[in-house]
Amino acid sequence: MCGIIGYVGSENALPIIVKGLKKLEYRGYDSAGIALFGAAGFDVVKQKGTLSALEERLAGSTLSSFMGIGHTRWATHGEPSDINSHPHVGSKGRIAVVHNGIIENYRQLRERLTKRGIDFVSQTDSEVIPQLAEYYYDGDMLDTVVKVTNALGGSYALGFMCVDEPGTLIAVKKDNPLIIGVSEHGNFIASDVPAVLRHTNKVYYLDDAEIAVLTKDGVRFYNQDKDPVTKTPETVTWSVDSAEKGGWPHFMLKEIMEQPKIMRDTIRAAAEQAYLPNPGAAAGGLDVANFDKLVITACGSAYNAGVVAKYVFERLCRIPVEVELASEFRYKDPIVDERTLVILVSQSGETADTIAAMREAKSKGAVTLSIVNVVGSTISKEADHCLMTLAGPEIAVATTKAFSAQLVVLYTLAVGFAVRLGKLTPEQGQGMLEEIESLPEKTETILEQVDAIQKYASECIVYKSIFFIGRNIDYAIAMEGSLKLKEISYIHSEAYAGGELKHGTISLVEENTLVVAIGGCERLHGKIMSNIEQVISRGAKVLFIGNSREDDMGGKLSFVAIPKVNELFSPSLSVIVLQLFSYYVAANKGLDIDKPRNLAKSVTVE
Ligand code: G6P
Repeated sequence: MCGIIGYVGSENALPIIVKGLKKLEYRGYDSAGIALFGAAGFDVVKQKGTLSALEERLAGSTLSSFMGIGHTRWATHGEPSDINSHPHVGSKGRIAVVHNGIIENYRQLRERLTKRGIDFVSQTDSEVIPQLAEYYYDGDMLDTVVKVTNALGGSYALGFMCVDEPGTLIAVKKDNPLIIGVSEHGNFIASDVPAVLRHTNKVYYLDDAEIAVLTKDGVRFYNQDKDPVTKTPETVTWSVDSAEKGGWPHFMLKEIMEQPKIMRDTIRAAAEQAYLPNPGAAAGGLDVANFDKLVITACGSAYNAGVVAKYVFERLCRIPVEVELASEFRYKDPIVDERTLVILVSQSGETADTIAAMREAKSKGAVTLSIVNVVGSTISKEADHCLMTLAGPEIAVATTKAFSAQLVVLYTLAVGFAVRLGKLTPEQGQGMLEEIESLPEKTETILEQVDAIQKYASECIVYKSIFFIGRNIDYAIAMEGSLKLKEISYIHSEAYAGGELKHGTISLVEENTLVVAIGGCERLHGKIMSNIEQVISRGAKVLFIGNSREDDMGGKLSFVAIPKVNELFSPSLSVIVLQLFSYYVAANKGLDIDKPRNLAKSVTVE
């Protein structure tokens, strides 16, 4: 969490940094701040609240500099306040720092520095960094950064400026992402690519412990022994427009609407990477026949994609699949070995728990395969094999298009594995692939129903609690529907397996409770309809998302139709309705949909 940016070049750093921070706001929005290199020390402006509050403070500002750093915060240590905002400057006013991550030994460091007469002004863990840097500084910032990082425990992506070294910006990272962008007019550090896209598509991905020294004319890289390191820049294929709202009221709606296209792109790539010419052979020659079981581990919506995939892999491949929350997997001493394939699913490729789960799996000898959206991210680089989702930059905190892209990669992989294992003939596999390829067009027909879904959702803002039910794979996608709703609308919601209702949850159903029932599984249509009858007879109203309905149960049952498709792939269609439903409930409540309270998109701390 937290987004950092820095610029050194021939243009005024102030607007460049503020615009860059806008692209990083999804990483945290409790407070924001900037520090510019000025004639007499740093010009620092910090403001509690979202970036727009900082922009208001800066309105009409005449500040100008060739170099600066900026930060948008998701508070971990110390409440959101002006003083706790970054950048932090040491008490001598000589070194300014922006930090993303958590310094785990900050108490000890703070105590040591306090004993040496250094006064701290904030409650943050981050302030120890500039204080320590000023304490160590003896005329060589590169050397200082090495000493500082040797003393720090925890995770960090850092940007440093020093009053005594004008024109030099220094960056270093450990377990948090940092990219270096190089452009015609200057060079950048940033937490993520969209922050620099309008200036350049040439980026370096910094590795842990590497130090980047940026001037307006170039970038040099060093290791912890201060030996030069040679790195090659990569060209980002994301377009500038892909990270812009482009007339849509929210990124979330734009990203929902982009789904047919990104599904097409991702299916094509997945078919090439994971299906053709060798079904089931993901990049690097992975062979499913080498494994006794699969484990899928991830967080948030990516975990829900894993739950959907469990049904698909088990049904098609007849191989056992476990799905684990990465935050649990990492501490449970998991039973995995070299005959286990551990699949990591992550949009950002930087989620701290998923990274830790991957490292735990590798340390036990398991083979790892990642499904990631962000090129150059830690998980994409460290996993033994990687399949990319081609969702483009996703800005809204609540994922939509990246989730859909994860599903189609997982389906394609499952079909490939099934063919490789002889559970499907190549012809059957091809037929399945064609079903997957039909999803984008079917998604378009759902998006055409947007007005009806919006109208229905606008009437649902009165509910305090909404339940989501489904059976089998519909239960898996009900979990995502419930998560989406609670994330952005702040309405309490729970997902239940339809068959489990009678074991407790039905006691919560009363007059006018809303139950969203999902019926993409034709095989279980009769079963979910029985559940619907049970809740309606206890006073509930039901929104049914399925292929068909028999009647409207006395006006108690509303219906959104999804096109028919093999039930294993139907979550990709029901989820579109669920996303639109959540979006319009939140929109009708007038909420800040792209930046829901207390959440951040990229959870890079534990
Ligand atoms: C946050 C986001 C979710 C995302 C989850 C996992 O909670 O808001 O949308 O599913 O993190 O993130 P990842 O980048 O690993 O997919």
